[in-house]
Amino acid sequence: MSKDIKIKVIDKNEQKKELTAPSDLGLNLMEFLKANGYPILATCGGMALCATCHIEIIENYDQLPEPSNDEWNMLDTLPQIYPTSRLACQIKLNENTPDLTIKIRGELEGEESA
Ligand code: FES
Repeated sequence: MSKDIKIKVIDKNEQKKELTAPSDLGLNLMEFLKANGYPILATCGGMALCATCHIEIIENYDQLPEPSNDEWNMLDTLPQIYPTSRLACQIKLNENTPDLTIKIRGELEGEESA
């Protein structure tokens, strides 16, 4: 069964956009955001090893599966995290994924590392 996931994205300039993500393509949220033109660095390609896909979940954090230990460990390396920080590459888009509002926090292409 495929259902659409509504994802509201707030970028670093506070620009908001509402996107509809497919639940049946086996994508993760990082891949989906990149496919929609958000230049997330994603140096590690989605292995939970770079943390440049850092996002803050504004709505429905509680409805997502818990982060893995690898994801926690990686989030821990960031200079600033939020109570609802996640790595976008570790959020699978499937029929169990809730609608989400997220804010992009990680490093983007062409941005100087802080
Ligand atoms: S893309 Fe590297 S941790 Fe998500």
